[in-house]
Amino acid sequence: PTIHRKDYTVPAFLVDTVDMGFDLDPAATRIATRITMRRNPASTSKEIVLFGEELELVQLRLNGKQLKASQYKLETGKLRIASAPAKVVLEIETLTSPEKNTSLMGLYVSNGNFFTQCEAQGFRKITYFPDRPDVMAKYTVMLRADKKKYPVLLSNGNLIEEGDLPDGRHYAKWEDPFNKPSYLFALVAGNLVCQEQKYTLKSGREVLLQVWVEDGNLDKTQHAMDSLINSIRWDEERFGLELDLDRFMIVAVGDFNMGAMENKGLNIFNTKYVLANSRIATDVDYANIEAVVGHEYFHNWTGNRVTCRDWFQLSLKEGLTVFRDQEFSADMIGTDSGRAVKRIDDVRVLRQAQFPEDAGPMAHSVRPDSYVEINNFYTVTIYEKGAEVVRMYQTLFGRDGFRKGMDLYFERHDGHAVECDDFRAAMVDANGRDLSQFERWYSQAGTPRVQVQSKYDADKKTYELTLSQTCVPTPGQTKKLPFHIPVAVGLLDSSGKDMTLRLSSDGKGKVNDDTTRVLELTKAQQTFRFIDVAEQPVPSILRNFSAPVVLDVAYTDAELAFLLAHDSDPFNRWEAGQRLATRSLLTLTTAVQEASQAGNVVALEDVLNNAASNSAALGNALGLILNDSTLDAAFREQALTLPSELLLAEQTDVIDPQAIHASRQYLRGKLGQALKDDLLAAYHANQTPGEYSPDADAAGKRALKNVALSYLIQADEAGSHALAQQQYDNANNMTDRLAALVALTNSSAPGKAAALEKFYQDFEQEALVIDKWFALQATAYTADVATIRALALHPAFTLKNPNRARSLIFSFCSGNPANFHAVDGSGYEFWADQVIALNGVNPQVAARLSRSLDRWRKYAPALQEKMRSALQRVAAAPNLSKDVLEVIGKALAN
Ligand code: ARG
Ligand code: ZN
Repeated sequence: PTIHRKDYTVPAFLVDTVDMGFDLDPAATRIATRITMRRNPASTSKEIVLFGEELELVQLRLNGKQLKASQYKLETGKLRIASAPAKVVLEIETLTSPEKNTSLMGLYVSNGNFFTQCEAQGFRKITYFPDRPDVMAKYTVMLRADKKKYPVLLSNGNLIEEGDLPDGRHYAKWEDPFNKPSYLFALVAGNLVCQEQKYTLKSGREVLLQVWVEDGNLDKTQHAMDSLINSIRWDEERFGLELDLDRFMIVAVGDFNMGAMENKGLNIFNTKYVLANSRIATDVDYANIEAVVGHEYFHNWTGNRVTCRDWFQLSLKEGLTVFRDQEFSADMIGTDSGRAVKRIDDVRVLRQAQFPEDAGPMAHSVRPDSYVEINNFYTVTIYEKGAEVVRMYQTLFGRDGFRKGMDLYFERHDGHAVECDDFRAAMVDANGRDLSQFERWYSQAGTPRVQVQSKYDADKKTYELTLSQTCVPTPGQTKKLPFHIPVAVGLLDSSGKDMTLRLSSDGKGKVNDDTTRVLELTKAQQTFRFIDVAEQPVPSILRNFSAPVVLDVAYTDAELAFLLAHDSDPFNRWEAGQRLATRSLLTLTTAVQEASQAGNVVALEDVLNNAASNSAALGNALGLILNDSTLDAAFREQALTLPSELLLAEQTDVIDPQAIHASRQYLRGKLGQALKDDLLAAYHANQTPGEYSPDADAAGKRALKNVALSYLIQADEAGSHALAQQQYDNANNMTDRLAALVALTNSSAPGKAAALEKFYQDFEQEALVIDKWFALQATAYTADVATIRALALHPAFTLKNPNRARSLIFSFCSGNPANFHAVDGSGYEFWADQVIALNGVNPQVAARLSRSLDRWRKYAPALQEKMRSALQRVAAAPNLSKDVLEVIGKALAN
């Protein structure tokens, strides 16, 4: 059944307190819950509605009296008590089997320890409860368990009592002083150890910080602890927000559906986003850990103190918190170019994952109007596009204006469950502007396209930019109204310097500084006139990616090379190179397709050579960047990295994965040959000898060095195999070791099988590294379906662990397009097998995998047919979860 936003009604009963007692046992955990409730004056209903799933109901008492079966109604997923008194104490006893719970929602067992995941609707797998985010209450939790097996007992808030019990059991009692919705409830019980330290807040108050892991992992917690401390300090400084608890805990768990969870005072994390040392984690892992630790910590205010009224408002907390973690990561790097590198990474994700989502069958607005399964809506649209929407306020109002809006938001809504509209109202009111049209970013799905036309009048010295916008229909939304789009613009003179901008009085535009202006496009088409423009400029448009749109500008190759060489906006500088590269790559792709359609295999090389001749300009331009040592290594690496195959696919009308792959590889090889001396020089100049440090500067050098290596390998340069082998053997960190292994795996080096084998032997005990081992093979250029099927039979492979499933299956189905889309359809058969298998284990993860065929209508008819039948096979499988049904149903719908 579909749930609609418009059907929201206030809860009939409010909950004041929740007292829970857990007798933890993997086979059967007994949970006694005492809930005090009262009728909500804002509701006319007298009915108590409790949600519950996969529970055995042992006992149900209302105001001290046991309820007879006739006094309540048990339906699937719900328990109703009609016409309840104004004040109610409910006592509920439930039984659940954590060890059988493979969905990893509610209470489950991972490697012998107990964990919970309650967002969005996992609490109802623990007890019957009004499990909705607008019902907030104070919780006390008593945990009882075998002391030997489960020496550590944790829950939200403060530990107020602990002690021993008969029969080798013990207990711990926790009290959370803050009101919270049930989705923020958490408990952990098991054999864990922690790194802990006291930390003094800016206010002088001392707090206890802990990072809990399994025994043997204490040497991998320092970076998470450092990241937590940096997060605490950053939120104090940037937003004036202080940690409100005396104790803050992070716990790592190996089996976890998502990245991490912001449970009040007891954040639970996927091990992938906690554990790091130089031996097992790459620079990217270090950066991700910092971002996710920050993200969950920042939720304490944006999510927990102010939460969501209903799940349609999910982006209220997620979009805002992603924006905050993006800004945190950027501030941690500190330099302007460092910030730009972070921005580029974020935009890559947006374009590669969110734009396709917005153009596919699962397209939804930042604040959706309906869903079947809320877990399917933890998406790049809610998170990353939501963050872009938040960022636009900052672009429009400036950092100070944004801060004013945040302050007002907390002043108005602290302790409440609110809507996206409330956030917008706080921003607007604090800055005294009417922004009603901006609401369309929340209600309309789809990526707007902005077209640019320009006209320079040499006599009048005026320069006109005409911006127009369109947005194609998405499922359920045929007509789109114009968005309010902030377009940051600069104009370059012929020497490459920024011009001082003067906008004629009829044009709107806020002055950020005198060389960049934010034009506000609010109509379908608008013209902005700059005056006193001394010469024909080259425009730099959408600086720092000021809005989540596709920008169409008809630049010449020369203009793009000029922008790549000179633009003062580092994002657009990078962007110019990407546009140039995309042009070459799409030309090559067409050439490959024409050659193969003509069945002319022999001529392919000639065709490519011809088409590549216009890539010489690209080679020159990239060479200049590569050799410009005034630029950060990290930025140079970004500029040298060609647009991904997935990104290129989205820019073609009919996706031809093999042609795209062949073109990209071919161009990489050509560039590798053309730039070989410079690449080799960069390789040697960017070594990071000595003790490993994950700081941005060192990481940037490794990134540049390793991209140079991958080009040299691709070009099959003499000596590149030896270089990679040497790097593998001598590496003192996982970044360099893994990069070398990836390079070898994608080369013709004779030693590659041995290296893969050695890597496995060396890291067999490190689950997160074995995930990398599977992933790198799943994304290898030579990895066909048979290879993947064989790897799935490896003793270390299991679908039950989400990280492992993702490392092999997801990496192949969404990270290796040329092989996944094998023309015989074998990739789709494999996909269907895995979706069906996963559906029985973990519906949430299965539904994610289901989305690999989202874009099936963008392929050639023959492939479409094969995809359709794979989709239909899944649709016809027995016992499909509503998670998978929703995704497959939408993919197959018109
Ligand atoms: N709130 C978490 C985060 O973004 C995500 C939890 C989602 N979990 C789920 N089962 N849908 O940090
Ligand atoms: Zn989040």
